[in-house]
Amino acid sequence: MSEARESAMRRLVAEKRVILCVGSGGVGKTTMAAAIGLYAAVHGKKVVVCTIDPARRLANSLGLTELGNVETRVPPDKLAAVGQAPKGELYAMMLDLKRSWDDFILRHAPVERRDAILNSRFYQQLSSALVGSQEYVAMEKLVELSESRDYDLLVLDTPPTAHALDFLDAPNRVLDFFGDDKVRFMLSPALRAGQVGLKMFNLAGGYFVKTLARFTGMEVLQELAAFLLSLAPMYDVFKERAAQVKKMLGAPTSAFVLVTSPNPLTVDEAIYFHTLLRQDAMPIGAVVANRINQAPQRLSQAPAATIDALARLLEDPSTGLGTGFSMSAHDRLEKALGDAETLADLDEAEVVRLAAACAPTPVLKVPRFDSDVYDVAGLWELDKHLFDS
Ligand SMILES: Nc1ncnc2c1ncn2[C@@H]1O[C@H](COP(=O)(O)OP(=O)(O)OP(=O)(O)O)[C@@H](O)[C@H]1O
Ligand SMILES: [Mg+2]
Repeated sequence: MSEARESAMRRLVAEKRVILCVGSGGVGKTTMAAAIGLYAAVHGKKVVVCTIDPARRLANSLGLTELGNVETRVPPDKLAAVGQAPKGELYAMMLDLKRSWDDFILRHAPVERRDAILNSRFYQQLSSALVGSQEYVAMEKLVELSESRDYDLLVLDTPPTAHALDFLDAPNRVLDFFGDDKVRFMLSPALRAGQVGLKMFNLAGGYFVKTLARFTGMEVLQELAAFLLSLAPMYDVFKERAAQVKKMLGAPTSAFVLVTSPNPLTVDEAIYFHTLLRQDAMPIGAVVANRINQAPQRLSQAPAATIDALARLLEDPSTGLGTGFSMSAHDRLEKALGDAETLADLDEAEVVRLAAACAPTPVLKVPRFDSDVYDVAGLWELDKHLFDS
């Protein structure tokens, strides 16, 4: 990989104001968001990393355990493992989706209606039933943070999406839902007067109607009508905010970092997501191929003493490592290395395929580490690959 490619992430951190880590489930989005934030803070940025559901150990290492839906500064002494005093400041927060929806309602609903909305038994159902609502509220938080604080850089982790498309579509879906004629119909004066009939259930079956179908009975319907009415003044807010979110995502000061594993199916998804981002004219900063198996050192290149020591260990009956094999210890070592090399070759082929499909977007490789990445030392190690530092 060329030098120019390897400095792609450094350029992003230097030039962008918003970085979004996106990709399929479990590929390393949260880890990458934390690693980018750490690097930026060490290099002088005031940066906030907004994580979603980080592994407990990672949350611990960033001091996030006790905190709710607000950002907190990671104490500089927690960053000691980096080996140099950070020139900037690292803030982190764990996004609580329920709290974020509550905050959103609190901020935008008319004062006299807030309690009615938040206390409604439909509120909880609806906010979770809404397809894409998680993604939407994550992006809401992004807009809020960018408007209300003076960070140099915001790094947003995104929720595990069943399908990458959900993420891009989230603002539209929320809008479609609230702008839906069927919903508007239900807010008609007849409904206001409480004359709601069961014909409501004749509406074409979508997720909204499916949610409705859980509730039956006239009283419940009237209560629902009241709830929807209390939400009505928020339609315009949703519309405006969704437009803002889209604008922010597409701004030249934003960048998507698309994370993937070398698994062929995940690579397919990443390529598809990359195509969608491009179609939507979204700023794509880089693709990160994470957890790449590294080619092992050939046995023939290893010091003879090391091989002898390993072979002795494998053949020593007291270790229990040598029983039940027909191959010699040396051959077994060769075979293990051969297998590891095959894995590395397969991963490399996927990276080549990914790079070809996503060109000219730079594709960066991060190796698979022996253990999970859950502390500052691990994130910093990862940064060395991500930023070539
Ligand atoms: N390069 C790596 N080497 C080894 N382990 C890694 C690497 N990158 C990430 N991990 C580990 O993989 C696991 C999944 O990573 P992470 O939680 O960041 O993924 P995610 O994309 O955020 O997942 P989700 O979609 O569930 O939110 C974590 O335990 C993390 O420590
Ligand atoms: Mg995650």
